[in-house]
This record gives sequence, structure tokens and C-alpha cells, in this order.
Amino acid sequence: MQTDVVVIGAGAAGLMCAFTAAARGRRVLLIDHANKAGKKILMSGGGRCNFTNLYTEPANFLSGNPHFCKSALARYTQWDFIELVSRHGVPYHEKKLGQLFCDNKASDILAMLLDECEQAGVDLRLETAVQTIDKADGGYQLLTDAGPVTCQSLVIATGGLSIPTLGASGFGYQVARQFGHTVLPTRAGLVPFTITEPQLKSMCEALSGTSVEDCLVSCNGQTFRENILFTHRGLSGPAILQVSSYWEPGDAIEINLLPHLNLSEWLDEQCRERPNTELKTLLGELFTRKMAGLLAEHWFVSKPLKQYSANELIEIAEQLGCWRLVPAGTEGYRTAEVTLGGVDTKEVSSKTMESQKSPGLYFVGEVLDVTGHLGGFNFQWAWASGYAAAQYA
Ligand code: FDA
Repeated sequence: MQTDVVVIGAGAAGLMCAFTAAARGRRVLLIDHANKAGKKILMSGGGRCNFTNLYTEPANFLSGNPHFCKSALARYTQWDFIELVSRHGVPYHEKKLGQLFCDNKASDILAMLLDECEQAGVDLRLETAVQTIDKADGGYQLLTDAGPVTCQSLVIATGGLSIPTLGASGFGYQVARQFGHTVLPTRAGLVPFTITEPQLKSMCEALSGTSVEDCLVSCNGQTFRENILFTHRGLSGPAILQVSSYWEPGDAIEINLLPHLNLSEWLDEQCRERPNTELKTLLGELFTRKMAGLLAEHWFVSKPLKQYSANELIEIAEQLGCWRLVPAGTEGYRTAEVTLGGVDTKEVSSKTMESQKSPGLYFVGEVLDVTGHLGGFNFQWAWASGYAAAQYA
């Protein structure tokens, strides 16, 4: 079989790239080894797909080369994707912080992308693996389950390593290395932390399912304000997932459990106004009763406020306002939303997504060393990079 473009990976970036290139008149073969296209889209956003973010900007992305994402993000913006979603009549809403979700189901987004592929004439082959890729005259030759294929342009859209049960594989990195690319070390991002320190672990287990609504979580100079969630294994929730992308093993994280209060002033005031109130009762007004009880038991000795010295009250304020802990690790690729690292963007054109090592080879989406914050940014990168490559592939 001979075609103009082969796209490997029918996820977010691959689908966008395939129908955009086909709409330009290119013959496009889209291959995926999974039995379904866009499995991560279906799972995303708790089944409602947080498909973009109103406030997308380059600062929302991590990369060894922070400038790389700028061009593609500017040429296919959140407004372009919103226009596509609106054109297909997919109902959506802003949940919070500019995050756009489907009103109904994530399958609305996948159906829209598949519809665009069908209209543009993309040849989609599922359950099709690629055995070998070689350079051929003016392009590439692939050996696939569907037989040999030659093409002028080859787009690698195979994503990262997160959630292997959804089809993730290291294939894209393998192809990159084969054609002389550097692959930067990969690690799980947007992922819950595990805690093994016995006392803290037992507190997390006891509080599993409890969230603290408004926290400031910091790590390596980055701070996020959102809720945190205790789990059986440690800590999760949006603020934790966000800092996890900046965390390296051994690093401490700091959590302000009450950023809306000036804690030492507030404790002083409470001590003056109701000196006989127990600390545990006071904490019960700020956290769930169970959490207040556990904090009073694990962190402090609960007694009436008047019995604390001024220094002890300062220590309590510091503990609640700057809880410092060193996670044992993360839950890894099993639950991570994204993979940090990947194909080094220094060897890829930021305008076309084309390899600077091997003409006609393109990389789009998560396989590249570009990782978004939580909140719809990773899909926006998939749409933007897929669109950019499609203009040239
Ligand atoms: P993606 O992983 O989507 O697609 C890669 C495709 O390549 C897959 O279809 C896979 O089967 C295929 N493939 C892999 N190896 C292959 C091989 N060897 N041969 C053939 N095919 C192969 N982001 C966001 O912005 N908003 C959100 O709400 C969420 N929610 C979310 C929830 C969960 C549970 C996860 C795991 C992730 C998210 N994300 C997210 C992140 C988002 O899903 C992710 O960044 C994009 O799907 C990346 O798009 P890609 O197309 O690059 O890879």
C-alpha cells in the first residue's frame, strides 16, 4: 500500500493531525494497535473530558525547552478548538479556572473527531501494530499487521507511558531513537504521592476520601492553590497532582492547609476570646471532625487554648500553615495522567513538528517533551501540535 501520510496513534493528537492533513487533500492512513481510538479521551476528566482551558498559555507547560510550545499553541488556540466543538453542537461548560468540560460525555469529543476523520476520508485501521519502520526513497516504509506501507510523511502520535492498560507504549521513543533523536528521561506526572512514614501513613489511611478544599501546595518554587485529597496510599487531589510534575524523588513538599487565614493572628485572637476552648474543638470548625481529631492526636496535644504558651501557638500555626513532608514516591505510570520528558524538542521544528534528524518524520502530542498542567492543557497541546504537523506532513 502507498499513501501520503501515515499517522501512528489514534489518540487526541493523532486524530487531529489525521483529519487536518486529509482535509488538505493528503491521503492519510491512521494506525493504532488498540481496539478503539481515543481511549484516553473517553477516560478523561472523569468521563466528561476537560478538552481545553480558556486561559491556555505557554507558562502552563513544562519542557526542557519552554519556548518550543509557543508557536503551535499560537497557531491553533483554545478558541479554535472551541469553535470546532461548537460547530459539532457538543454542549460544554466551564467547571472552574477556565476548564471546559462536556455537559454530557467525553464520547461526544471522540465522536466529533471520528466524524471529522470520516468526512475528510482518513483510512483508520485499529488493532494494527507496526513491526518495522525504514527509510525509503522520499519517505518511509513500514511493515504493519495490515501489510507493507510506504508513505512520504510519518507522524508519531503514540503518546507517553501513562496507563499502559489504555494502550500506552514506549513505541514513540523507540522510533525517535532509531532515527537519531535524544529521548529525555521520562517520569510520571500529574500523579498522586505515596507516603510510607508510619505515623503519616496511618493518618492518610484513616482520612482516606477526605479532602481539604483550599490549600496552597508548593514544591521546587512552584505553588498551586486547590484542594487536596487523602488516599489509602498517601495524597492526591488537584493541588497535589499539579506539584507532582515538579517533584523529584527526595524533594519535600509544603502544604498550607489554611491559606485564607493568618494563622498566628487568628489563634491569638481565639485564645483571647475563648480561652477555655480545646484546640481539637477549634480545629473541628476548620476541618472535618475526624480530621480535627486526628490532627489533635498526631500533631498536637489538645488542651484548652489558655494553656498554650505564645511559642506553642506559633508552632501550631506553623504546622498548619507550612506542613512539610517528603513523599516516598508517586503512584507511577499506573495512575499518572501524563508522562514528563520524552522526545527532545531541541531536535524538532517548533513550527512544523518535523524531525531535524530525519526529514518527513514528525512527532506530535505527549510523546514530545511538552507536558501541561492539570486543567485541559494537555489536550490543547495535543490539538495544537497535531494541527501544526498536519499543515506540513
Ligand atoms: P494518547 O495517549 O491520547 O494517544 C496515543 C495513541 O497511540 C493511543 O491510542 C495508543 O493506543 C496508540 N499507540 C501507542 N503505542 C502504539 C503502537 N506501538 N502502535 C500503534 N498505536 C500505538 N488531559 C486533559 O487535557 N484533560 C483531561 O481531562 C485529561 N484527563 C486525563 C485522564 C486520564 C485518566 C489520563 C490518563 C490522562 C488525562 N489527560 C487529560 C491527559 C491526556 O489524555 C493526554 O495528554 C493526551 O491524551 C495525549 O494525547 P496523545 O495523542 O499524545 O496520546
